[in-house]
This record gives sequence, structure tokens and C-alpha cells, in this order.
Amino acid sequence: MKLPYAEPYRIKMVEPISQSTKEQRLEWIKAADYNLFNLKSDQVYIDLLTDSGTGAMSDRQWAEVMLGDESYAGSRSFLKLEAAVKDITGYTYFIPTHQGRAAENVLFSAMVKEGDIIPGNSHFDTTKGHIEFRKGKAIDCTIDEAFDTSVYHPFKGNVDLNKLENVFIENPKEKIPFIVMTVTCNTAGGQPVSMENIKAVSKLCKSYDITMLFDSARYAENCYFIKEREVAYKDVEIKAIAKEMFSYGDGMTMSSKKDGLVNMGGVIALNNEEVYRTAITFNIMYEGFITYGGMSGRDMGALAVGLYEALEYDYLASRITQVQYLGEKMAEFGVPVQQPIGGHAVYVDANKFVPNIPKEEYRAQALAIELYIIAGIRGVEIGTILADRDPVTRENRYPELELVRLAIPRRTYTHNHMEYIAAALETIYRSRAEAKKGYHITWEATIMRHFTVKLEKAK
Ligand SMILES: Cc1ncc(COP(=O)(O)O)c(C=O)c1O
Repeated sequence: MKLPYAEPYRIKMVEPISQSTKEQRLEWIKAADYNLFNLKSDQVYIDLLTDSGTGAMSDRQWAEVMLGDESYAGSRSFLKLEAAVKDITGYTYFIPTHQGRAAENVLFSAMVKEGDIIPGNSHFDTTKGHIEFRKGKAIDCTIDEAFDTSVYHPFKGNVDLNKLENVFIENPKEKIPFIVMTVTCNTAGGQPVSMENIKAVSKLCKSYDITMLFDSARYAENCYFIKEREVAYKDVEIKAIAKEMFSYGDGMTMSSKKDGLVNMGGVIALNNEEVYRTAITFNIMYEGFITYGGMSGRDMGALAVGLYEALEYDYLASRITQVQYLGEKMAEFGVPVQQPIGGHAVYVDANKFVPNIPKEEYRAQALAIELYIIAGIRGVEIGTILADRDPVTRENRYPELELVRLAIPRRTYTHNHMEYIAAALETIYRSRAEAKKGYHITWEATIMRHFTVKLEKAK
């Protein structure tokens, strides 16, 4: 008999969370200008806004916090982290930063110039932001299957080799400082990239002499999918899969707030000495000295342990199974979700869920607000509001996918919480025909509007 999955940890400390009434939530969300980012965390029962920096650390990580060495230069905690990063990635140089976008800021300062082209698989928004801020251009080469939520593909984060090669053919090599391979691909729904694809992209990059970098925020989850879905890797340990994966590239940036299992932190690791030398100067300017880069010694120690814990098979199996359980339960209830279920989140397809709400009234935002009002659950819109306006025409950009992302923090919520979330979605789904009105924007920032946008109910 196959026993059901269960968490490979038990709970030693709890953080109380509390329910509220629907009346309270109606008032709070109105006072928050219908922007879920404006809610206080105490007004939220289950917080699925992000899986970034919201996970629980282990007793071993907390022990490292106590052992943290806060020396400005050459701290023991730095050396522990450096050893872990080099061991896991196999890269020669390591630079700590305070989070993922800071790693991008430092590395791209050394590598990206005006007019550069950086292809990749659905770049994350901060990655794209740091490219565009330097007047470079991010070109999306993700496979087409990624943009249809109902199509099953085991590796929807894969790069389309033809699209990538066309970028290489159409642009001079000097204009392409690197490509970014995001594992797993957040923007495409937490979808993994296969080792076969990573190898093929690496080979193509080598043949055109182009650097390949990983955005490895969720690299351990990607390695788990490789083990589960690529036959050749079924008996290979996750750590060995990670080492092989990194061996096909030339370096990486990482937001450690995901698979680093810490609340704050970032990493750059790479092989190119010249780029490393240039980047450390930017690190000193933007982040801090090269042996702390914006992190406390105690946080570097906790990250050194977290990096290994995130590579443990039992941890990954329970993590991914929990997310899949939630997604499949919702799908059973008929709720349209991105298939297959991604690694860190369930993505609800708002175009299919509430087609009666005009797209100009922000379907996914309307659905996310309803989920909060009905159940106190905070998700996030990944749709038109996030996509912003076209910088030239100032018209709304309507993306192919209009999604509500329910990101699951690591080691934080229980199986009962998953049941609660699925039941809440089912309740809303049953009454979806009544949803005809969305929201209008009353104020927005000129860039990255989703964080601070103000909305009102459409009449
Ligand atoms: C794939 C990916 N890259 C980069 C980042 C940026 O990391 P951070 O939030 O630590 O700055 C994120 C954050 O969500 C991400 O998902």
C-alpha cells in the first residue's frame, strides 16, 4: 500500500493568524482602495501574495542565526555561505547581495549596455526592469505552449530553440551580453525547464559564443521536476541534478527568498573573472563590502543551511505535492487553473473564470478581491494591471494570460489550509455567473503601477 505524503518536519513554534468577518473585509478592502498590497497582514487570514521571503526557517537555520559572525570583512558566516554556493553551483566566484533584484542590479551593471539584447524564457519583471532601465531589450523565447493554460506540457518553461537562434542570427554577437534561463519560470506559472532543453540551449549558446546565465530563484524546485519528469534523472540525487544544471551555464543570480529558505538574501555566482572583478565594485557601491553584500552575518549563516535543506528530496516532494494537491483539488471543482500545476503557486485563469467581467475592468483583480472578501485569502493579480501601459501609446497592455496567482509559502501552511483555500475557490466558482462588474483605476504610478494602484468599483 502506498502511504499518503506527509511533511518531513514537525512544528516547534507557531504564529497565530486570525479570521475576520466578511463585513470587516468589505470595509478593509475599500479602505485599501481595492489594492491587496495595501492590506495590513493582520487583515489577512491566509496570505498567498507571494512565496518570496515568507517561508519558515528550520531549527538548524535559527541555530546559525545565533552563530552569526557580524564582522565587516571576512566573517565566518560569509565563508560558510561561500562554501555552500560554490559546492552547489560549481562556479568559481561568489558575491552576496541583499535580494534577487540587487543581484541583477550588480551583475547587469557590469554586463548590460544601452542597445543590448537579452533573450530568455519569460524574464521576471525585476530582471526585465533592470535590462530596460539600462536601455536594453528583453526578448521572450519561451515555447508557445506556455501561453495556453489548458495545454499539458511537462516543461512549459522551456526555451524555443528556433526563437532563440533567430535572435542570435538577427543580432550581432556584441549586442547579446548573455541569455537568462529562469528556473523555474515564474512568469509562465512556476513552470520548469527540462535538462534536455538546458543542455540544448547551452550548446546553442556555445556555438554562437554567448554567455548563459541562470535566474535560479527556484532552481531546487526545477531540479525536482527534472527528477520526476525526465526519465534519465529518476535515480539521480537532486544535488547532483543541480550541479549538472549549473555546469551548462556560466553563472547565476538568485533571490534566496525562495529556494534559499530564508526571508532575505541574494546570490551572484559565476566563472568569468573579469566580470566578477567589475561586479564587485558595483557590489561595494550598491550593496556593501564583498563579504556581506547587504546581508547580516546571521542571515548568511541561515542561508548556507537553507540552500542544502532546499535540495533534500523529502522536503521538495512535500512542498511540490502540497501545491499540486491544492491545484488538483481546485481543478476537480471545475476551477480553471494553469496545467500542469507549477512548483510554487497555483495560477487561476480569470479569463475563463469570470468572462462576463469586461476585460477593461480587470478580471483577475476582480477575482482576487472577491477571494479576499469571501475567505480572507490574499492572492495577487498577474494580468493587465501588472502588465502596465504601453510606454508609447499609454494604452493598457492586455496580456495573453489574465491570472490570479496563489503562491504557497514554504513550510508555512498546513493541509487544512489547502482544503480551506480550495473550498473558498469552489464557492466563488459556483456563483461566477453573477460576476459582471470589475473595477476602474482612479490613480496609478507611471511604472510598476500594480503595487500602488488605486481602484474603485465599476458601476
Ligand atoms: C524568477 C525571479 N527572479 C528574480 C526575482 C527577484 O527577487 P527579489 O524579490 O529577491 O528581489 C524574483 C522574485 O520574485 C523571481 O521570482
